[in-house]
Amino acid sequence: MTELIAVEDLAAGYGGPSALEDVTFALRRGERIGVLGPNGGGKSTLFRVLLGELQPLRGRIRSAGGFGYVPQTERSRLDYPVTALDVALMGTLSRVPWWQPIARAERERALAALERVGLADRARKQFGELSGGQRQRVLVARALVQDQPVLLLDEPFTGVDEPSAQLLELLLDDLAADGRGILIATHDVEQVARWDEVLCLNRRQVAFGPPEETLTPAVLAETYGAEIVRLEGVPAALLPPHHH
Ligand SMILES: Nc1ncnc2c1ncn2[C@@H]1O[C@H](COP(=O)(O)OP(=O)(O)OP(=O)(O)O)[C@@H](O)[C@H]1O
Ligand SMILES: [Mg+2]
Repeated sequence: MTELIAVEDLAAGYGGPSALEDVTFALRRGERIGVLGPNGGGKSTLFRVLLGELQPLRGRIRSAGGFGYVPQTERSRLDYPVTALDVALMGTLSRVPWWQPIARAERERALAALERVGLADRARKQFGELSGGQRQRVLVARALVQDQPVLLLDEPFTGVDEPSAQLLELLLDDLAADGRGILIATHDVEQVARWDEVLCLNRRQVAFGPPEETLTPAVLAETYGAEIVRLEGVPAALLPPHHH
């Protein structure tokens, strides 16, 4: 199966009205899918359902394996004293039984992942002392240590400085070229235009397809709804960078 995830007519919610409906898409090997949507649009909810943290109300999810996950809020939550290497090592916890000391092999895997994100020389640094972009790369390293075919990255670029953002984007290109599939929630429409597919969510699926066909003014208006009014009717795709 070249499809790593296939989602059909998925709906999910938290007991009230659905937070997400009509979601149908597939993620293949080597693909980067940008997930766009306003605040509360259902991006994180989609990730929680894929991870099995939230039961779908309807629909079907098939997946070829597990997920490496970078949650939306963790950068600030991990402010207790741990090193970058400690954080990367957390990715091995699911495979190391709790009574065993962390083996040399696990440590090497974590170091290799830090190397992969360009932070081998920061392994002994306190996580809390790294820049936002460096922290995000450490969390990507932790997801890589999990060694899964699919990566779910929930707004990995938010609050990330420009040099780190460029490194991170190149890293995602490499990881996809290796045959992984990546879902990336983001608010940056121009960035999504550089990826393979775009999934637009506004409490339901507005559109899914290649960016050049999908990112039309009509789709963007339906995706961002009220937010686009604040942009005075100018579709976000037409605004200069950092303006949206
Ligand atoms: N734990 C929860 N309990 C109840 N409602 C929730 C919970 N988490 C999210 N929601 C609701 O589900 C809807 C979708 O939220 P979600 O976090 O998926 O949006 P999002 O697209 O990730 O937004 P953001 O860009 O702000 O991260 C929102 O209306 C939100 O209030
Ligand atoms: Mg979110």
